[in-house]
Amino acid sequence: MFELRPATPDDIPALQGLIARSGVALSVGYYTREQADAITCHVFGVDSQLIADRTYHVIEDNAAIAACGGWSRRRTLFGGDQAKAGPDPLLDPAVDPARIRAFFVEPAMARRGLGRMLMYRCLREAKAAGFRSLELVSTLPGEPLYAASGFEVTERFELSLPGPIRVPVARMRRSIADPAGGAPTPDAGGAPSRGGVA
Ligand SMILES: CC(C)(COP(=O)(O)OP(=O)(O)OC[C@H]1O[C@@H](n2cnc3c(N)ncnc32)[C@H](O)[C@@H]1OP(=O)(O)O)[C@@H](O)C(=O)NCCC(=O)NCCS
Repeated sequence: MFELRPATPDDIPALQGLIARSGVALSVGYYTREQADAITCHVFGVDSQLIADRTYHVIEDNAAIAACGGWSRRRTLFGGDQAKAGPDPLLDPAVDPARIRAFFVEPAMARRGLGRMLMYRCLREAKAAGFRSLELVSTLPGEPLYAASGFEVTERFELSLPGPIRVPVARMRRSIADPAGGAPTPDAGGAPSRGGVA
């Protein structure tokens, strides 16, 4: 039985472990090991501001966290606390896209619809907060989920990380004028469905 709930500060140690495992294991075939290690170390992580804002969620599977991800009403597009510097001002829902942030699934739980379940919750909440579109910066392993959720690539660029190591990523965007238009998976209880994405 999967349960989706807001993340709390007490979840942070478990989330850091999950994110490290997911970032390396699920990057195979998309990034070299060096690229995966670099982005996992220097970019991936918990943004504790989202937990404080109650816009970051976890999915539990029998009390163990199986996946995490969220949305943001703030300017930062990607990166955990270690990648942040300075204030993170609020966006204006009338003109700015909300952010989709930091989706990670436990490697053994991949391709069971958990990412889609989180996306559906984020879409609903961002729409309820008055946002009209969503933006994110995706890793290459993240792109198939976001494409299946109605996002389109608007820009490709590379992150320059210590090493030096360059890691390709993509900026993606979608409208949320119709919240049912890209991620119609139920988001509470039971095994999520695997089909039906527009
Ligand atoms: C991206 C990620 C969160 C996806 O989570 P997930 O729970 O496995 O995704 P879902 O099972 O909900 O997939 C939904 C749909 O997305 C697409 N999809 C997801 N992962 C895919 C993959 N590896 N290959 C092809 N399509 C994929 C499929 O259309 C899938 O539907 P289907 O299984 O019915 O074919 C997960 O792969 C992950 O944690 N990756 C490593 C961390 C990372 O890079 N996160 C993104 C940060 S921007």
